[in-house]
Amino acid sequence: MRKQFSPDMAAAALDQVSLRRRAHRKFAERSEKMWFTHDGMEQASRPAVAAWRARRFTDQRVRRVVDLCCGIGADAMEMCARGLEVVCAELDPVTAAFAARNLALVASRVELLNGGQQQVIEGAGGAGAAMARVVAGDATGLVDELAADSQTLVFIDPARRDGRGRSWNIKDLCPSWDFVTGLLARPNPVCVKLGPGLPREIIPDGVEACWVSDAGDVVEVGLWRGVSATHTPGTAAGRFHSTAHLLPADIDVTGFDDDRPVSAPGSFLLEPDGAVIRARALAAVHPDARPLAPSVAYLTVDEPVTTPLAVCYEICEVLDAGEKQLRAWVRDNRIGILEIKKRAVDIDPAQLRRRLRPKGPNHATLVLTRTVDGLRALVVRRIG
Ligand SMILES: C[S@@+](CC[C@H](N)C(=O)[O-])C[C@H]1O[C@@H](n2cnc3c(N)ncnc32)[C@H](O)[C@@H]1O
Repeated sequence: MRKQFSPDMAAAALDQVSLRRRAHRKFAERSEKMWFTHDGMEQASRPAVAAWRARRFTDQRVRRVVDLCCGIGADAMEMCARGLEVVCAELDPVTAAFAARNLALVASRVELLNGGQQQVIEGAGGAGAAMARVVAGDATGLVDELAADSQTLVFIDPARRDGRGRSWNIKDLCPSWDFVTGLLARPNPVCVKLGPGLPREIIPDGVEACWVSDAGDVVEVGLWRGVSATHTPGTAAGRFHSTAHLLPADIDVTGFDDDRPVSAPGSFLLEPDGAVIRARALAAVHPDARPLAPSVAYLTVDEPVTTPLAVCYEICEVLDAGEKQLRAWVRDNRIGILEIKKRAVDIDPAQLRRRLRPKGPNHATLVLTRTVDGLRALVVRRIG
C-alpha cells in the first residue's frame, strides 16, 4: 500500500480497516461499509437503542429531525431508515463527512455542506428512502436556522469526553449543559441523550427522564419534552416524569413512590434491571415483591418470578456478614470462585474477595445487603 499510496493515505486506510473490525461488535455486518473515527465509533449509540429512539419519534408522528451533534451518524442512520427527514450538524469536518457517507447507506440522497462547499452523495437507500443533510459546523450557531420550524424535533447527543476519555462530569459536556437545557425550553419537541449517571437534582422540571438499558447495561438517560411517552403516565411523583425502557424486551415502566413495607429475606431475591432502579420503578417489578430495607434496590418474593425487569435468585442461606464468619463459610464450602454483589453497602467486593481467600472446586454468589435485621450476606443461586 505504501508503494501505491502516500504514507498518510496508507495509514488512514489501515486505520479504517482496524476500526471497522472493532466496530463489528456494535454494528455487525453494517460496519464493513461504514466510516469511523476512533471517538465517533466509541461514542456512537448502539443500533438497537438508536432504532428504538427513531421508532418513538415516528410513533409520535414526527417527520423531520435535527440531530445537532451527529457524530458518525449512528442515531441519524436509524432515523433515516425509518423514513424521517434528517438534518445533521457536526463540529468536526472529518466526522461530518463520514456521517454523510454512513447516511448514504440508508438514505436516497445526502447533501454535505462542509466549509462553504456542497457535495451531493447518491444514497443506496433507493428512491423511496428519506433524504438527509449534514452540515459541518457548530450546532450552537446553527440551531435557530435548522430548527426554525417548530414541528421539527431537536435531538442532541452531546459529546461527553475530557482529555482522558469518557467523562461523567456535566462540566465536560460539549456543547454546554446551559445550551442543552436551553433546547428544552424551545417550542420544538426535544430529545436529549445523556449519560445514565446524570444527577437527578439537575434534571429540569417537567421533562420525562427515560433511563434505557440494553441487554442489562444501562446505556443512557434521555430527557424528552413535547414527545409524549408511549406508555401510560401512571402516578408519577416528583418534579419530572421518571421512566425506564428495557431492550431488547421493549418494555416501558414508570417510576412512582413505592410505599410497600420492607421484609426479611424470603425464598427468592430479585435484582432489578439498572434502568428500573434509576427510574425508581421498583414497584413495577412484581406486585408481591418487597424491598429488603428502605432505599435498598433488592426485592424479595416467596415464589420464583420470571420477568425481564429483574434477575431472580434462589436464596439458599442467610449469613451474618462479619468477615470472620464469611471466611469460615468460604473455607468450609471449599469455594474457589466467589462472586460478590452488593448494594447500599460501603464495601469493595474485589478487596473483600481477596480477604476471604477463596480456594477449592466450588463456586458461589454472595449478595451483601442491608436487611431489616442489619447487614447480611445472602448465598444465592441464579434461576432461569
Ligand atoms: C456523542 S457524539 C454523537 C454520537 C451520535 N449520536 C451517534 O450515535 O453516532 C457527540 C458529537 O458531538 C460533536 N460536537 C461537540 N460539540 C459540538 C458542537 N458545538 N456542534 C456540533 N457538534 C458538536 C462531537 O464532535 C461528537 O462527534
